[in-house]
Amino acid sequence: VISKREQVSIDAAFPMGSELPVPDELALAHSEMLSGRIREEIAASGGALSFMRFMELALYAPGFGYYCAGQNRFGAGGDFVTAPGVSALFGRCLARQVAEGLDLAGPGAAVLEFGAGSGRLAADLVMELGRLGLRPAQYLILEPSADLRACQQSTLRDQGDVAVRWLDRLPSRPWRGVVIANEVLDAMPVARFRMGSGGDVEELCVTSDGAAFTWTARAASPGLEAAVRDLETALGRRLPPGYTSELRLHLPAWLCALSDLLERGLLLLIDYGYTRREYYHPQRRDGTLICHYRHRAHDDPLRLAGLQDMSAFVDFSALADAARACGLEVLGFATQAHFLLACGLGGILERLLREEPQRYAQYASQAKRLTLPGEMGERFKVLALGRRIPPPLLGFSVRDHRARL
Ligand SMILES: C[S@@+](CC[C@H](N)C(=O)[O-])C[C@H]1O[C@@H](n2cnc3c(N)ncnc32)[C@H](O)[C@@H]1O
Repeated sequence: VISKREQVSIDAAFPMGSELPVPDELALAHSEMLSGRIREEIAASGGALSFMRFMELALYAPGFGYYCAGQNRFGAGGDFVTAPGVSALFGRCLARQVAEGLDLAGPGAAVLEFGAGSGRLAADLVMELGRLGLRPAQYLILEPSADLRACQQSTLRDQGDVAVRWLDRLPSRPWRGVVIANEVLDAMPVARFRMGSGGDVEELCVTSDGAAFTWTARAASPGLEAAVRDLETALGRRLPPGYTSELRLHLPAWLCALSDLLERGLLLLIDYGYTRREYYHPQRRDGTLICHYRHRAHDDPLRLAGLQDMSAFVDFSALADAARACGLEVLGFATQAHFLLACGLGGILERLLREEPQRYAQYASQAKRLTLPGEMGERFKVLALGRRIPPPLLGFSVRDHRARL
């Protein structure tokens, strides 16, 4: 069972191709229906669809997209595992930072979780917040997939006296509380670009030869071209011909909408990602797109439409810049390992050794998985943003790498 990106290092995506398991007939028929829908959009767009729209359809087309078609995506029987699926230790540690955020946000503070997946993290958080004696006024979940929402409702059926509520849109302002998004930003569609031989910017699009989807390039739209030029300015260098990567163009608008409603509170954004300099490193010449199918990782998003997950790393520098531009403060930036240790992972393990010695080896191995550099410890980062929340925050007391952003 692999966690996302566990096996992928700089420029070395897990070898793709022949060793992917063959989907059964039902799955292939499902994929063919979604592919037909995508082919119609390609035709309606004059023969080429932006990759961003392709990714949106492949993941979120109602009834057909990867996250919207009712299959189990998480854990051993699915395609990948996220930190809450690795261990409840993740939620137990995160709860301590959430508790501090709720306390600082003041009376009436609630939790808002984006993209709650199976609902595991919400269940762990609610349980641990209860143990810490800090119940949020409400636990809100904003989940675009109707199927995942149903899955979360089943996981969260017995949450005692904490009111869990699902939203169709952002809560109304002014809002106080703590926002959580674990492995959500990586699942937001990206535009894919390539630098042309004359220094021009091309947009990589998807076309179809009837049997398969293939890549095609066209001149970038003014919006994408401007975003690439801004990126070059921020990097202080031009990107070389052939250099291919991604930009998550809708992220600033997503963050600004959140900022608009936040009267006082904390945002905890957890994901695999890099600072801008690492993300757009000259050697990372093909971007960070990664696909998962039954615990195999590969880098071809045009296969298995609707059956495989696809995602791209998060540029945390871009996120921090977008936050400042809409009036949020950047309160902390740490690796997942440092964050969990700062939130008391060591103390929780010591207690488990006393209370459940027979299960301790299992907990210790889960903790390693969450924190070791070759596993989820370094590739995953935590960025804290906020309004009217005074630093320092607990989760960044071991190490705070804001200066690197
Ligand atoms: C990789 S899963 C992570 C699930 C969960 N947070 C976890 O850690 O296991 C990505 C989740 O993000 C959700 N998602 C994608 N775009 C979203 C958006 N714009 N707003 C809220 N949720 C979103 C997906 O539907 C899915 O639940």
